[in-house]
Amino acid sequence: MGSVHPFKHQSHSFAKKFLPWTLYALLPIALIRLYFYPIPHSLSPTDQLPPNNPIIITTPSPSQEEERSHVQIACDYSTGKWVHDKNGPLYNGTSCGTIKDGQNCLSHGRPDKGYLHWRWRPKQCQLARFEPTNFLQLLRNKHLAFIGDSMARNQLESLLCMLATLSPPQLIYRDGEDNKFRKWHFPSHNVNISVYWSPFLVKGVEKSNSQNYNKLYLDSVDERWVSDLDHIDMVVLSMGHWFLHPAVYFYGDSVLGCHYCPGQNCTEIGFYQVFGKAFKTTLDTIIEKRASSGIPIDVIVTTFSPSHFEGDWDKLGACPKTEPYKEGEKKLEWMDEEMRKVEVREVEEAKEKGERFTNFRLEALDVTKLSLLRPDGHPGPYMYPFPFANGVTERVHNDCVHWCLPGPVDTWNEILLDVMKRWEGQSRSGR
Ligand SMILES: *[C@@H]1O[C@H](CO)[C@@H](O)[C@H](O)[C@H]1NC(C)=O
Ligand SMILES: *[C@@H]1O[C@H](CO)[C@@H](O)[C@H](O)[C@H]1NC(C)=O
Ligand SMILES: *[C@@H]1O[C@H](CO)[C@@H](O)[C@H](O)[C@H]1NC(C)=O
Repeated sequence: MGSVHPFKHQSHSFAKKFLPWTLYALLPIALIRLYFYPIPHSLSPTDQLPPNNPIIITTPSPSQEEERSHVQIACDYSTGKWVHDKNGPLYNGTSCGTIKDGQNCLSHGRPDKGYLHWRWRPKQCQLARFEPTNFLQLLRNKHLAFIGDSMARNQLESLLCMLATLSPPQLIYRDGEDNKFRKWHFPSHNVNISVYWSPFLVKGVEKSNSQNYNKLYLDSVDERWVSDLDHIDMVVLSMGHWFLHPAVYFYGDSVLGCHYCPGQNCTEIGFYQVFGKAFKTTLDTIIEKRASSGIPIDVIVTTFSPSHFEGDWDKLGACPKTEPYKEGEKKLEWMDEEMRKVEVREVEEAKEKGERFTNFRLEALDVTKLSLLRPDGHPGPYMYPFPFANGVTERVHNDCVHWCLPGPVDTWNEILLDVMKRWEGQSRSGR
C-alpha cells in the first residue's frame, strides 16, 4: 500500500485555519482528516481455519424467575485493570485484509510490540478470550450493522479480523467514497455484517469546501441507515469525535444554536447537549420503528473513545506511551467523562422507554474508561508506513485517536460477545 499523505498539500492553510482553536478541540478535528482515505478493497481469506469446534455457550440459561431479576447486564465491565497476556492477539497485520491502512501498526513497522500483550480484567466478572465460533453462532441468520464514524469502523474491522480467523467473510456490497458503506457475508453461519457511515447518526450535511461547518438536523435520523433498519437484527452505534467540528444545529425549522461559529448570527451552545439529542432521536426512532414492526432488534452503544495527545498532534512523540496506565493512575475527566455520561444517560432513558417491548434490547458498551487506560494503543506516527525510514524528524503526523489493529479495540468486541452471551442466557420471551 502506497503511503498517502492527506496533509501534504494543505498543512499550511490547515494549520492557519485551525490554530486559534483550543488544543483540545484541535487535535481530534485534525485527525478527522484521516478518516477518509483508501482502505483495502477485498478481503484476503485467511488460509488457516481452525477445526470446527463444537459451540460452547457458557452462560447458563436462567429460569423464568431468574430472568426477571436479571434484566440488567450483571457485570460492570468498565471497572477493572489491564493485565499482562502472554497469548497476544488472534490475528496480525497481514492475516486480515480488512485493516485500514492507517491503523495497521504492525505492517507499518511499529517497533514495540508490548501493546499487543494486555487483556482487560473487569473487577466483577471474567472476560473470556474472543471466540469467533461463539460469536457467529449467536448471530446465525442475522445481520449486524455498525453505524457511526471511524470509531465504528475501527471496531468493525477488529471484529472482522477476529471472525476471519474462523470463517472467511465475503465482501458483498460496497458503496460510497472511501468505502463508507460495506457489507460482508459469512456463508458458514449465514451472517451479514455491515458498516454505515453516519458520523452524527442523525441527518447531517458534512462540511465541504463551500461550507466550512457541519449542519445537523437533530430531529431526524440519517436516512441512509434507517431505510435499511427493517433488515437489521443488531446494531452497534458509535460516534462522538465529529461533534467537535464547527456546526450549526437545527431542530425542525428552527436553529437551536451552533458550535464554534464565529461570524455567524448564531448562539454557541457547545456540543454535549446536542450529542445527547442525536442519541435520543436515534434510539427513539429505533424503538418506534421496531415497536410497530414487531421484529426484534438488539442495540449496543459503544461509549466515547478517548484520544491521547500529549502536546501537538504533529510533534514527535505525540502519544509516546508504550504501556497501559495502571489502576488508579488516570482518572476519567473533562470531555471524555462528559461524552460518556451523556451516552450512558441516553441509554438508560431509552431502556426505560423500550422496556415494554420484548423485542428491544439495549446496552451501553462502556469502553471509555478501559480505553482511556490504553495510551499505548494508538498508531501515533505509524499511521504511515515506516515514518522514520529517512531519519527521525521533529514534525511528524500522529494519530492518537484511532486504535492499532490488533489492539485495544479487540477487547471492546470481547465485551460485546459477553453481552450477547448474557442476552442469550436471558433469552427474550417470544423469540
Ligand atoms: C500472521 O498470521 C498468519 C496467519 O495466522 C501467519 O501465517 C503469519 O506468519 C503471521 N505473520 C506474522 C508476521 O506473524
Ligand atoms: C445478507 O445480505 C444479502 C444481500 O443483501 C441478503 O440477500 C441476505 O438475505 C442477507 N442475510 C441476512 C442473514 O441478513
Ligand atoms: C441575528 O438574528 C436575530 C434573531 O434572528 C435578528 O433579530 C438579528 O437582526 C440578526 N442580526 C444580524 C446582524 O443578522
